[in-house]
Amino acid sequence: MGDIAPSFAFHDLAPSQESFRDAVLAGLGRDPKTLPCKFFYDARGSALFEKICELPEYYLTRTEIAILDRFAADIAARIGPHCRLIELGSGASHKVRILLEALDRPAAYVAVDISREQLRRAAARLAADFPKLAVVAVCADYTRSFVLPELPGPDGKRVGFFPGSTIGNFEPRQVVAFLSDWAKLLGPGGEMLIGADLKKDPAILNRAYNDKAGINAAFNLNLLTRINRELGGDFDLDRFAHVAFYSEAEGRVELYLKSLAEQTVVAAGQRFRFGAGELIHTENSYKYAIDEFRALAAVAGFEPVHSWTDRHQLFSVHYLRRT
Ligand code: TRP
Repeated sequence: MGDIAPSFAFHDLAPSQESFRDAVLAGLGRDPKTLPCKFFYDARGSALFEKICELPEYYLTRTEIAILDRFAADIAARIGPHCRLIELGSGASHKVRILLEALDRPAAYVAVDISREQLRRAAARLAADFPKLAVVAVCADYTRSFVLPELPGPDGKRVGFFPGSTIGNFEPRQVVAFLSDWAKLLGPGGEMLIGADLKKDPAILNRAYNDKAGINAAFNLNLLTRINRELGGDFDLDRFAHVAFYSEAEGRVELYLKSLAEQTVVAAGQRFRFGAGELIHTENSYKYAIDEFRALAAVAGFEPVHSWTDRHQLFSVHYLRRT
């Protein structure tokens, strides 16, 4: 922890190497096998995810950006002056710039992300581009509870910003627990701006997660590369394949790595057997109709203020207020 530049503070609460090892051992020891999706985002994984966001098939990012662009003035008016924005999973911090430019004298921006170097670069750039804004970077796993550092600036409204439909990567019951925690963290009058991918024609979803260039596959498989490098694994990447499909029954895209042969793999000092065709579950990506999402948020103590969508009803941005 320590200050890097006068206008930009960095707090390192990142999970240790131990927690990656423990998660891999636990997940591969389970039946069916799983690996937690937060470990996708090492340096290469973060770069691959940026590439996914630019794919022609992956409509999510560009549609959300278009919604934020189109309604920035409306969003900024609802938020009001001197707000303190807290972004979870800030990544390259592209989207928040749209808000920061539209907002009336924003006081502080807190960027929380698990990808340390990307966070450091993004926060430094933002601090340089918005000299009046107090920028605080917190490297942390926000799916666990962590202490929010003291927020600089006058006492403006605290607004949580959670774009990218990352909320869809939680199980619905985790969404409720997560939003309940945030209701407490934000305090009375706290508000949240959350991006959520909408239910739609499954063909569009299946294309988004199975692009022609194979970047989704590279991103998913990078989890095995990371285990090989950081935990002394010997996964043969040619013997695993990316699998992604929309399950209408579950209302989610399911993501897996499939073993293409019967094989034994060593990872984190243990041997794991895979059958031919056996799946490792790596992520779910839930898709919510507007009312479905509002109902979940209501259980967590948030009421809907407004929801914006694009013309084709692909994506939604919800503005919620603590009840
Ligand atoms: N959070 C992203 C999503 O739900 C992650 C993602 C995109 C992803 N493509 C992927 C995860 C491919 C695993 C494999 O859209």
